Amino acid sequence: MLYTVAHGSVPATTGMIVCAVQDEGWRIPNLVGTARLQQLWERGDFPARQGDCLLAYGLSDLPARRVLLLGLGQADTISVQTFGRAVEKAVRTLQANGVADAVLCLPTQTGIAAAALARSAVLAADRALYRFDQCKSQPEAVSDTPLTQLTLQVAQADDLAAVQAVVTQTAAACTGLKLTRDLANLPGNLCTPGILAERAQQLGTQYATLEVSVLDEPELEALGMGSFLSVSRGSRQPAKLIVLRYTGGPADAAPVALVGKAVTFDAGGISLKPAAKMDEMKFDMCGGASVLGVLAACAELQLPINVVGVVPSSENLPGGHATKPGDIVTSLSGQTIEILNTDAEGRLLLCDALTYTEQFKPAVVIDIATLTGACVVALGHEATGLMANDDDLAQAILAAGEAAQDRAWQLPLWDDYAEVLKSNFADVANVGDRAAGTITAALFLSRFTRKFRWAHLDIAGTAWHSGKKKGATGRPVLLLLQFLQNYATGNLSL
Ligand code: BES
Ligand code: MN
Ligand code: ZN
Repeated sequence: MLYTVAHGSVPATTGMIVCAVQDEGWRIPNLVGTARLQQLWERGDFPARQGDCLLAYGLSDLPARRVLLLGLGQADTISVQTFGRAVEKAVRTLQANGVADAVLCLPTQTGIAAAALARSAVLAADRALYRFDQCKSQPEAVSDTPLTQLTLQVAQADDLAAVQAVVTQTAAACTGLKLTRDLANLPGNLCTPGILAERAQQLGTQYATLEVSVLDEPELEALGMGSFLSVSRGSRQPAKLIVLRYTGGPADAAPVALVGKAVTFDAGGISLKPAAKMDEMKFDMCGGASVLGVLAACAELQLPINVVGVVPSSENLPGGHATKPGDIVTSLSGQTIEILNTDAEGRLLLCDALTYTEQFKPAVVIDIATLTGACVVALGHEATGLMANDDDLAQAILAAGEAAQDRAWQLPLWDDYAEVLKSNFADVANVGDRAAGTITAALFLSRFTRKFRWAHLDIAGTAWHSGKKKGATGRPVLLLLQFLQNYATGNLSL
């Protein structure tokens, strides 16, 4: 999809979106207040409720054959979110009606800055057009003439530069988002740790600023990653540790480290999961996929900072060699772990990956993981769970999430919860009881993050949709990119 920005006379196009605000009475709010549109409006045929779409033909004084009237609702209820949802609907409608290129006239009467509207519009168009049909033998054609170009029409010349900048940025973010969603939507047989590692290596050849290396099981063994390696023992697919280094800043600048859980399929191991919805455990690599997406976007955006991505990847299956409940392993940190439940595998690979990041002397470390079903119970599918050993870092992440409309919510990381992780046989157990499962999982990880400032994002409830809309969301790519952009511009009190 090509996004362009224009100002002045509206370019000739096959489709045009004009927005109407349902205010005190009706009015045509846009720069294109033509007589026919005005007439149509005054007849009161278009209520302009939030998301109302009406495709109008025959408005011959406009430079488009089809004009889509888009309702934004009452002025005081319009937000970047509601605007985004409306645009998403409009873009779907245009696409279904064979519009190949369209102009969206950014509304001027919402009280929201043009740049913010533009960002929302690009993200919305991207959501509307996303498809994952790699695995269909005959991908359904959405249209003979798919929408390939969207021009954002700016009313005020003053806004042009800001809108242009935001559109370029958001389009780059969309590249990362798409990579994340595509990898995450792939089934477990087509996205093994080995395949994921190859995909990462391709990124390394694609971007000069991105250096990618992959550690194999013998190397992980030699390093002493006994905890990470315990997860793949029941699988025929060897584990991989993927390391991506993006260098956009001075060589000696401390990097931000992103550590992403990438269990390409989580059957639970010997502590086998129930069958219902087990297919969704192909999404257990969404944390790792988000790290790949964010690093690709950093390279696209050429952010002037350094970022390291560490992605431990493995399958978690039962098998003759699989780790058994009660087994004790030695982590890279030297701490021994009693594995009481092999389904609590995410923390087992993350703890070694976190210890591994120490060598990069990171400014901060953020891990991203579909870690606990308990997080879905606590926060549902709206907020990502956030826990941190540093409150400034937590605040910066929360703020980035707000700004990016990809929100997180903080849970406490009090030691008082850690009692349950005590083991009679090893330094620590990998599970506690059922209470506060999200927090005890993070407390387990916190034993491996004492040497740096660290935050943990539990994306179990936000990384994918179930049911009819089943598929990866790409979260929290936008949150992380916003955080990194804030960090790059020094707009972060860290
Ligand atoms: N990948 C799962 C967490 C998960 C479950 C995410 C359902 C999204 C939906 C993780 O590896 C896991 O199995 N966690 C266990 C931990 C428990 C054994 C302490 C869980 O949440 O049940
Ligand atoms: Mn599990
Ligand atoms: Zn898992």
